[in-house]
Amino acid sequence: MPMPVTILVCIKERTAGKTSCAGRGAEALMAELERLTAVKKLGIEVEPLRCFGRCEEGANVRIAPGGAFFHHVTTEDLPAILDAAVAWKTFKEAPPGGAPPPLEKSIPPAPGS
Ligand code: FES
Repeated sequence: MPMPVTILVCIKERTAGKTSCAGRGAEALMAELERLTAVKKLGIEVEPLRCFGRCEEGANVRIAPGGAFFHHVTTEDLPAILDAAVAWKTFKEAPPGGAPPPLEKSIPPAPGS
């Protein structure tokens, strides 16, 4: 059975002085994503993850399996992440042959993009 669409939230706390997703409010972001997915009955899981290896870009959130990757996430970005998760779920559940939604997103957009 394929993995259900899941929003992965890095909640790692790194040693003092090092940038981490936890240090940028990732646990509160995860709690709010859990609340919103339940209230909206999206059928999308929210799970913690221990480091994507992109700590300087935290807070980092990824839609799995194989979905969009969000960086510099704040509370204001959560509606866009939920929209992307729903779009990814719709794509994954559709018959083969459809065009996938965008897979890489940086919030805010990278300079020059
Ligand atoms: S601490 Fe979140 S990506 Fe490393």
